[in-house]
Amino acid sequence: MTEIIKIDSKNYANSINKCAETIKAGGTVVFPTETVYGLGADAFNPDACKKIFVAKNRPADNPLIVHISNMDMLHSVAYIDEDLRDKMKNIWPSPLTLLLKKKDTVPDIVSAGLDTVCIRFPDNQIALDLISASGPIAAPSANISTRPSIVDSETAIRELDGRVDAIIDAGRVKYGVESTIIDCTVKPYRLLRAGAFTLEDIESMIGPVYVDPLARGYNQSSVALTPGLKYRHYAPSKKMFLIENEDEFIKFISSGDARDFLILCSEKNSHYASGETLVLGDDIYEVAHNLFYDFRILDKSGKKYGVIQSFPESGIGFAVMNRIRKASFLIIKDKENIDKIYKVLNEA
Ligand code: TXA
Ligand code: MG
Repeated sequence: MTEIIKIDSKNYANSINKCAETIKAGGTVVFPTETVYGLGADAFNPDACKKIFVAKNRPADNPLIVHISNMDMLHSVAYIDEDLRDKMKNIWPSPLTLLLKKKDTVPDIVSAGLDTVCIRFPDNQIALDLISASGPIAAPSANISTRPSIVDSETAIRELDGRVDAIIDAGRVKYGVESTIIDCTVKPYRLLRAGAFTLEDIESMIGPVYVDPLARGYNQSSVALTPGLKYRHYAPSKKMFLIENEDEFIKFISSGDARDFLILCSEKNSHYASGETLVLGDDIYEVAHNLFYDFRILDKSGKKYGVIQSFPESGIGFAVMNRIRKASFLIIKDKENIDKIYKVLNEA
């Protein structure tokens, strides 16, 4: 049985305590963070962490992020050099996750047998209060494996009711894309996953980071930056087509050929659409906020396919484009490639 725990100001402390007790007793709790919902268990309890893999249908070689709410917790699970620690004191809580050498306290199931662990200090009051009451929580994104991350409690309940012990019902999250992950076990540090914390902010607050071309999201390859990223990711179950060239995108959505497509675009471009449209937004933070939410609407819609435009790749736009590319069945980069859409449609 899954307990749904609605958070309001009257029952706040009780609700948090109840969830913390569930974690301490070896149970699983779905909780909000500022990026996406997480599915958490006691990071020091291997049996509890095993339940996360079962509930999500997650491959065992995909390690979990350990969530902390103060620096003492960090020292209980990982090694960090003093210089980075001092910088992080001014940066955390925030959606920047660090890959560090792990301490022996972290069970193998959490790190998937690696000698490293991802550490995240989330900027969400519910998450912080829960972690403070329970101790470090191991948590991946709450979605079932391969599905888009969950950014609202209604989806969390629909997808995980019956699979976990409790779900905190706290509405929509702030950002809508996952945290940024950097590998701090190498110099220069290396970007492992683009996310809600911008590269520009990392460079100004921490220093230069190496960004592999794979981070832009073009390749679904076995050479992945993290174990998790070699799996198909973030995708709606309907086929989604990304048309990166703006003129081609506008031409396609204004034509009758878009009939079977749900169109995902900016407010500005929605005026050209000949059919059913989901406006992601014009501000890039708004686009991030709506992205996974709208992938779920695409899946529920009566349309057979989705078609989506590209957005500028600065700031959080870097993570937005990484997610869109990874979620797309086909990427049309330029005019020459537009025929590929028709090829897929003809084969269907
Ligand atoms: O915003 C977020 O980071 C969310 C919220 C819930 O905190 N969490 C999240 O977790 O996105 P997850 O498990 O969906 O993604 C974590 C990624 C995976 O690609 C995983 O392979 C990678 O981090 N990862 C975790 N531990 C690792 C390690 N020791 N070495 C390399 N990659 C690691
Ligand atoms: Mg995930």
